[in-house]
Amino acid sequence: MRRMRRLRASAAIRSLVQETRLHKEQLVYPLFVTEGENIKNPVDSMPGIYQYSIDRLGEECERIRESGVRSLLLFGIPAHKDAAGSQAYDRDGITQRAIRYLKKEWSAFLVIADVCLCEYTSHGHCGLVDGCRILNDETLPLLVKMSVSLAEAGADIIAPSDMMDGRVAAIRGGLDQAGFTETPILSYSAKYASGYYAPFRDAAHSAPGFGDRKTYQMDPPNVREAMREMEADIAEGADILMVKPGLAYLDVLRAAAERFDYPMAAYNVSGEYAMVKAAAQNGWIDERRIVMENLLAMRRAGADIIITYHALDAAGWLEDA
Ligand code: PBG
Ligand code: ZN
Repeated sequence: MRRMRRLRASAAIRSLVQETRLHKEQLVYPLFVTEGENIKNPVDSMPGIYQYSIDRLGEECERIRESGVRSLLLFGIPAHKDAAGSQAYDRDGITQRAIRYLKKEWSAFLVIADVCLCEYTSHGHCGLVDGCRILNDETLPLLVKMSVSLAEAGADIIAPSDMMDGRVAAIRGGLDQAGFTETPILSYSAKYASGYYAPFRDAAHSAPGFGDRKTYQMDPPNVREAMREMEADIAEGADILMVKPGLAYLDVLRAAAERFDYPMAAYNVSGEYAMVKAAAQNGWIDERRIVMENLLAMRRAGADIIITYHALDAAGWLEDA
């Protein structure tokens, strides 16, 4: 008889035939940095996640170092917002200062800088607005300025998340012209207009003041369109592609991984994190089991890189597994 159970009989044999593995080198931990002093603000909808001022960032960096996670995705929260998001490309903006601090004091970390205007604009949209229209081509030069200024501050990877058309080409051109020919672009290629970003918008104070993001982020029912987005980003010079959210879009991740020979990232977003934390706090699920199962699901679907708020916990669990 064919007995599938032969290969399941012990932990040793299960691990011998294990098809997919997760390593902490594949995890990226998002970090929220805010203006001000002596700040460690809990994000209510994301238990365990805080906004830090630069002078308190060291505590969190120590935790990150101990966990063995090396890659960070940085989000800055400026004190001052305006219609053009000018703090996004200010040499002394919060994100630029945070990057300089990290590269100076914690040089072993790989710093990925998110590029988008929504944390910096008074209207909370990812581009310039005219009435209730979100402008595409007018926004591109600002994204280029932001990218160059983050690279000048020391960012190792530039990660545009705004979903304007043509932004990868514009940013690649701008980085090259400024001498940053070696700085990779991780593109949020297939980023959906999703309800799963709500806790992040609390954390980053980036909720749109009017309307929604449906005219620039992708429509959830579409998967072939995601392939077109990725093709375009590759043609424009992206080095790494991303699907976001991760868990709710595993089919998109799978299709992309089969089709494109590029490193593939999945963003296990804030709402996915919040749901797990809420259920765990109620004692309804076993947090550790669920987190590891979720992370493995993204690996199995084809993610080489996973951006997740669970990164430090998961790294610890991988250690004592
Ligand atoms: C900025 C940005 C967002 C996220 C990452 N970069 C929010 C948005 O598009 O509204 C979401 C991350 C998360 O939910 O964890 N554009
Ligand atoms: Zn945005």
